[in-house]
Amino acid sequence: MKILDVCCGSRMFWFDKKNKDTVYMDIRDEQFEIHGKKVNVSPDIVGDFRDIPFENETFYQVVFDPPHLKWAGENSIMRAQYGQLDKATWREDIEKGFHECMRVLKINGTLVFKWSDCQINVKNILDVIPYKPLYGNQRGSTHWIVFIKEEQA
Ligand SMILES: C[S@@+](CC[C@H](N)C(=O)[O-])C[C@H]1O[C@@H](n2cnc3c(N)ncnc32)[C@H](O)[C@@H]1O
Repeated sequence: MKILDVCCGSRMFWFDKKNKDTVYMDIRDEQFEIHGKKVNVSPDIVGDFRDIPFENETFYQVVFDPPHLKWAGENSIMRAQYGQLDKATWREDIEKGFHECMRVLKINGTLVFKWSDCQINVKNILDVIPYKPLYGNQRGSTHWIVFIKEEQA
């Protein structure tokens, strides 16, 4: 497998939701209906981005689309689809997630980070991320930001 999607959710952003080169991971495996909308989170593997269950330097590409909401209604579609950050630990969680994504990437591999800044501004999330971004869209509310795994000095 070449690509790891660490927070696949319902795979909404995938053109091919069963890409043969990709392992789809999420912390939950659940299917239900809420307010008439189907939620289908069916990962290949259940795992936590803070402790990714793969060896070092396994993937050419990792895509990391963690929950971006600190506040969401208990019974809201947003929470059901996207999950929710832990209000107390989200900074450490995202930082750990980045270290883990980089660990499982091959040297020179690409990490693609997606962030929606409706509650936490992109500048604030970049302050938490322990790596320097290469490029990405800096305007708008949905951000796709690209990192590379550098060879260790
Ligand atoms: C923003 S959504 C992902 C949406 C997805 N990219 C899509 O296209 O549908 C975030 C996902 O991260 C998952 N998640 C939350 N905490 C996690 C963790 N510690 N490890 C792995 N996945 C986690 C949630 O269950 C949720 O499905």
